[in-house]
Amino acid sequence: MNYNINSDIEILEFDEIDSTNTLCKELGKTFTKTILVSANSQISGRGRLGRSFISEKGKGIYASLLIKPNINILDVSKVTCVVGVCILETLKEYIKNDLYIKWVNDIYLNDKKICGILTESKISNGIVDYLVIGFGINLYHQIFPKDVNASSIEDQTKIIINKNELLSKIVNRIIEALDNINDDLYVNEFRKHLYYKNELVNLSVQGKEFVGRVIDINDSFELLVELSGSIKNITSGEILKLRKY
Ligand code: BTN
Repeated sequence: MNYNINSDIEILEFDEIDSTNTLCKELGKTFTKTILVSANSQISGRGRLGRSFISEKGKGIYASLLIKPNINILDVSKVTCVVGVCILETLKEYIKNDLYIKWVNDIYLNDKKICGILTESKISNGIVDYLVIGFGINLYHQIFPKDVNASSIEDQTKIIINKNELLSKIVNRIIEALDNINDDLYVNEFRKHLYYKNELVNLSVQGKEFVGRVIDINDSFELLVELSGSIKNITSGEILKLRKY
């Protein structure tokens, strides 16, 4: 209902679903055109590293785009970051507050997570069969468990954003970005909004914890961190938290 999407895609809406990403992966076996799955709530919303994503009824966007992009397999690792920029840039149309991207997939507002992105892919014979680009955005008033450092846009700014208008704009941006994934614009915007830049943080890399200083990202969106006096590029892992003394 009430979408304004520039390309010819199929839209499936659910009141409640297990996970929009999980459904897209199932549909990926047979799909012939781009599909957007959006739900009012998810029973088992999934995040990165096996975490769950709280997806309370009517509180936000819980959506996944199933798409066969024309990208090289070497560029698949950039998709989450590029999508982060697409979402952040769209949110800036509504919100004047500073927004940050916590490498690699979370958007923060006032030091609270308001959005998470989960990209999954199927690659065979060196070709990207499909991508599932899932994103959850906390739009409206919501009380999170104490151990979850999240909030909603309404709670942080009092701004109430129309859900389908925002979703349409984001989808339009993502589809355009996938055709231009190596455009400098994305890496530059990510850099500008890199959360914890120049801060000491706790990092988890391949199951081990480190303390390092966030320096920047490189042109492949790898995180550059100063660890024991030298700069290392981190390809997978995550920033756990700001190091406090
Ligand atoms: C994260 O926080 O690590 C990523 C969260 C991604 C959540 C979205 S909500 C829509 C889509 N369906 C899912 O199960 N997950 C993503």
